[in-house]
Amino acid sequence: MGKKTLSSVRGMNDLLPADAPVWEWFEARVTDWLRSYGYQQIRTPVVEYTEIFVKGIGEVTDIVEKEMYSFEDRLNGEHLTLRPEFTAGVMRAIVEHSLTYDAPRRLWSMGPVFRHERPQRGRYRQFHQVNVEAVGFAGPDIDAEMIAMLARLWKILGIECVGRVRLEINCLGQTEERLRHRGDLISYLTRFEDQLDADARRRLHTNPLRILDSKNPALSDIIAGAPRITEYLGEASRAHFDGLQVLLRAAGIEFTVNPRMVRGLDYYNLTVFEWITDALGAQGTLCGGGRYDPLIERMGGKPTPGIGFGMGIERVIELIKEAGAAEACPAADVYVLHQGGPTRTQAFLVAERLRDAGLDVVLHAGEASMKSQMKKADASGAQFAVIIGETELASGTATVKALRAGDASQPFARQATFALDALGDALVDGLVATSETA
Ligand code: HAM
Repeated sequence: MGKKTLSSVRGMNDLLPADAPVWEWFEARVTDWLRSYGYQQIRTPVVEYTEIFVKGIGEVTDIVEKEMYSFEDRLNGEHLTLRPEFTAGVMRAIVEHSLTYDAPRRLWSMGPVFRHERPQRGRYRQFHQVNVEAVGFAGPDIDAEMIAMLARLWKILGIECVGRVRLEINCLGQTEERLRHRGDLISYLTRFEDQLDADARRRLHTNPLRILDSKNPALSDIIAGAPRITEYLGEASRAHFDGLQVLLRAAGIEFTVNPRMVRGLDYYNLTVFEWITDALGAQGTLCGGGRYDPLIERMGGKPTPGIGFGMGIERVIELIKEAGAAEACPAADVYVLHQGGPTRTQAFLVAERLRDAGLDVVLHAGEASMKSQMKKADASGAQFAVIIGETELASGTATVKALRAGDASQPFARQATFALDALGDALVDGLVATSETA
């Protein structure tokens, strides 16, 4: 194996220790936020039968046509796929376990998702989503709650002002309305068939709605003149969309209606929405979602309305870093040093006792001079160094050094020696005093 082959798969990244604290900070904020809105966690497998995604997401979508990591199980020939999104798998689990038989459900998941796209800033082949689904709710009130919930999260994460995080919404109507719109859209686009690019021509009769999403500037005039779905909405769809807008305005949430937003997955109806920022370049969609009322029935369940969204964690983390919003990772409280031999055993036992007392402890591992251990202790960010040398071993004591600059009111601003019985309490008191003067 050449040197070059020892790398991660293109578009799939390691999370290195230097970046882990901001991810942990994000995950802690997000789980609190989800709990506060009554959401429960569901974890589905990373691998599902391929047909779950084909059925759920739709055959004529970028994801199913060209982005899925699908493979045949060598041992039994089953057709499997690494999840390219959460929704289809979560709906499969809801149907399989009859999760909505007695009540609606608010569910969330978090984890890796796989799409074979061309990697670039903010776009990866393994990325991570926070995915949220509310099933069994039909009215626009839950649509509004979901959007308000996201507006709150941007504030919690301190990113609401970075690159103008903004909201776009649209209404895709119901099946009959979409069919009428689709028919007119095909007739309209057929008039320009010779001006369409290859992608658009291919989609003309399979998924013409996606042509409206094209980024090709040569098509922008044609797209601008195309019939809009909003003109085809019946009374009920219009009432749903109006109901959502009334609630958003009442909550003081700014939005724009983007009649060309179609989303890349086929299961949506009525409300769709995206939160977008300018701060991340071309991949600026932080979060996208919408209603999928026909989906659960399509997956074999009883007709049950639903709405949800997926959030790209890498993109949100990039904004958090830009805003400098994450708090620094808390270091361990104590770093324990020793002189090897029997003092190593003593240090090992002292470290365990301090952990019993509730302290976070890093024990020095390996042989090193006291000087070099003190340097490591300091660099660790710990508040205190606890030293177990020959003298301490002989007298059943430990020497404590305060590592962070503190003021004179600290119980041991520089250095003190404690009997082992008193050590845990002294360090806990010392930490309290330090946090009060900080
Ligand atoms: P989606 O719009 O395909 O929706 O993805 C949701 C979010 O995932 C995007 O807004 C973006 O932030 C992030 N994302 C997508 N592709 C990539 C990529 N290649 N690299 C990094 N981030 C990416 C869904 O997945 C739906 N299942 C959402 C949903 C849930 N709708 C209803 N319920």
